[in-house]
Amino acid sequence: MSDIRFDNRVAVITGAGGGLGKTYALELSRRGAKVVVNDLGGKHDGTGANTSMANATVAEITAAGGTAIANHDSVATPAGGAAIIKAATDTFGRVDIVINNAGILRDKSFAKLPPEDLEIVLNVHLKGAFFVSQPAFAVMKENGYGRFLFTASAAGIFGNFGQSNYGAAKSGLVGLSNVLSVEGAKYNIRSNVIAPIARTRMTEDLLGPLAAALDPEFVTPLVVYLVSQQCELTHEVFSVGGGRFARVFTGLTPGWYAGKGVRPAPEAVRDHLAQIMNTDGYTIPKNVTDEMMLLVAQLQG
Ligand code: NAI
Repeated sequence: MSDIRFDNRVAVITGAGGGLGKTYALELSRRGAKVVVNDLGGKHDGTGANTSMANATVAEITAAGGTAIANHDSVATPAGGAAIIKAATDTFGRVDIVINNAGILRDKSFAKLPPEDLEIVLNVHLKGAFFVSQPAFAVMKENGYGRFLFTASAAGIFGNFGQSNYGAAKSGLVGLSNVLSVEGAKYNIRSNVIAPIARTRMTEDLLGPLAAALDPEFVTPLVVYLVSQQCELTHEVFSVGGGRFARVFTGLTPGWYAGKGVRPAPEAVRDHLAQIMNTDGYTIPKNVTDEMMLLVAQLQG
């Protein structure tokens, strides 16, 4: 198969002034993409702003012979999201790829989390990805082509102490991507999610001895593949880091059917737990209709 190339493709990458996003920007530009490097340039807790981070990534791309522009808007408002996509269409005439990567942390145990730490984390991760993706979706729909990538986290998919705000936002992104994959299907728009693990400024104090094995560049190959034309996958989630690439999925067990018209007692549910929980023969629904059809089949015997 041919090399993965991005000639004539335009990629918007949020939070690409450092960490994981910067590696995506560099690799996509090496492979021919024109890149909008978005970064607000604040601290990892979401305070402050600085143009230097996005500018530095652009300087590196340009020095290597690539094409990129910097954008310093925050993803966290509808106006910011619109301005980021407008920067792409004004300069390069189109948008083919959106990598929603910008992020911050405000970790605290659930009992102690103040509303403002919920607000800002939802605004940047969940609403930010929504605000950037919505105007991009309109352009992609028009062009009949698009690739979205969302950045979730194991903290949201599997749970982690002290990250109720972050986990809720990150899980929300899986839901958003799933809907875009359903709504985008007929326009050749694909949408997938990664839950990465890598040594960046966000995690350097958290990874301990594992840090040395977790260069962000280990995540880049999967991201580059997922946003390529060669990738037909959609509605998927992957765990990625340190050179390991793995599928994460939401499955549905065959479950227990109480019988036509039967309204079982709670005790009957308890007594059938083993069957309800048994993962043998599970399915992976691609949308709500897939799930409904399985229920309908049982209801109709
Ligand atoms: P990072 O802190 O190096 O990168 C995040 C970037 O987003 C920063 O450059 C920051 O300036 C930018 N940013 C923050 N708020 C913004 C806003 N409102 N508008 C535009 N840009 C903004 O951290 P890292 O690790 O590279 O994170 C990238 C993504 O990966 C984040 O979404 C993070 O939550 C996610 N992630 C990272 C993990 C890891 O192990 N590094 C684990 C799980 C998820």
